[in-house]
Amino acid sequence: MDRGALGERRLVVAANRGPVSFHSDPSGEPIVTRGLGGLVTVLTEVLRAHDGTWIAAALGDEESRLAEQDRSVEVELDGDTYRVRYVSVAADMYDKYYNIVANPILWFIQHYLWDLGRHPDISPNERDAWENGYVPVQRLFAEAIADEAGAGGAAGTAAGSGALVMLHDYHLYGVAPLVRAALPGAFVQQFVHIPWAQSDAWLVLPKDMRDAIFEGLLGNDIVAFHTPHYARNFLQGCVDLLDLPVDPARLTVTVGDREVWVRAYPVSIDPRALRKAAGAQRVAAEEAALLARRREFLLVRVDRLDLSKNIIRGFLAFDRFLDLHPEFRERITFLALLQPSREDVEEYVTYRERVMRTVEQINTKHGNTDWMPIDVRIQDNFPQTLAAYRHYDALMVNAIFDGMNLVAKEGPILNTQDGVLILSENTGAFEELGAFALGVNPFDIEQQAEAIHEALTMGAQERRTRNEAIRAVVDVNSVERWVSAQFADIAEKLDAASR
Ligand code: F6P
Repeated sequence: MDRGALGERRLVVAANRGPVSFHSDPSGEPIVTRGLGGLVTVLTEVLRAHDGTWIAAALGDEESRLAEQDRSVEVELDGDTYRVRYVSVAADMYDKYYNIVANPILWFIQHYLWDLGRHPDISPNERDAWENGYVPVQRLFAEAIADEAGAGGAAGTAAGSGALVMLHDYHLYGVAPLVRAALPGAFVQQFVHIPWAQSDAWLVLPKDMRDAIFEGLLGNDIVAFHTPHYARNFLQGCVDLLDLPVDPARLTVTVGDREVWVRAYPVSIDPRALRKAAGAQRVAAEEAALLARRREFLLVRVDRLDLSKNIIRGFLAFDRFLDLHPEFRERITFLALLQPSREDVEEYVTYRERVMRTVEQINTKHGNTDWMPIDVRIQDNFPQTLAAYRHYDALMVNAIFDGMNLVAKEGPILNTQDGVLILSENTGAFEELGAFALGVNPFDIEQQAEAIHEALTMGAQERRTRNEAIRAVVDVNSVERWVSAQFADIAEKLDAASR
């Protein structure tokens, strides 16, 4: 990284969620755990490379209390200290921003989940959620960022203008232009962690809203995605929807007198930290429990309980596999570890019910008093996940669409069985790992049923070769590399601007 060009810029990262969650244990004692999702791991790595402050929405009582201080506070977790500035958002505003606009509207557009003959309606309710939820939250984040970046000098002065601001995800599409206005010399980058849908998918939104989203992102100096495919979709969207000049070879968009770079950096995991976490006592206890119940074969999936993860079709494929290959009856369990997610969003509530109904039907059809074919656990239990990673014979990742999917990278790093990765062609991870996995079309249930069979009957040598190849890719393309590639491009763009 060219430290010279990045200089002493003050780093501010922003994401909807912060690095930790505050809860209390059964006796009422406060406890702090890692924030949900892979974002915490990757932003921790960013902050290790360049000290800075993390801006996040205040999501619970403790975070709201910390938000009242109107400044950053230090929070500790597993030996890491984070400087976090919590943004206080009124409950009603947060509901409109998170439970209506970000999820489901934007999430569903970007994962192609809308069933357009029926949904969505952009009614006064959605319009209100945009105007009185999403838009004002962008302002609140921008104000906190400008304040933090400008600390030590008023916003807009040399200190604030020399900031490096890294925005994350679809919750914050409107923040960049506001930050640019407050801190004219700041460098602003935004990482979109989910797919970027092709232009027509965006036509669901009224023109003013979709233009605001594209224009918001174009307020950045660099817009980043996980794969070149999403970067190309974004560039094409700038042509189709805003009629802007783009250079597909240089991956740039010209906006007035500014040039915005569009880049792809495939995110990854920290294999060393994951191996260390898997050595914990609680993981060993989970392993013992899992091995005590283990049948001859173990098929595993690990996902947030989200429609994009394609959980039901995965179960239907297992049902079909048992129909086609009755010799596997009573010899296999499909362990589905599903973390509850977005439970205030109606579509997620209905989906969870459909998932459970499907499991019941399949277990009733194939199971007996001694054997439950699908063992579904809806909880957030990381040690149990790590234990399951160690022992699967096949890992199913059949997402409808997925920005990257880190399960596909975590599983093979820990697995001790040379288990086979069944991987959807529509995940970002497929671009890196597809050659060594069993690729599946996520809608093709027959193909997924066959993939389960192929995985469980594959020869030991082939399984080993495929796993070694996956581990080599993940070990080399680690999250450290993801971070340094971004800092290198930021330094290069700053350097180009100063010439
Ligand atoms: O994949 C996008 C993402 O925002 C991740 O960064 C995060 O891990 C996940 O979705 C979780 O979403 P939520 O914050 O809604 O639980």
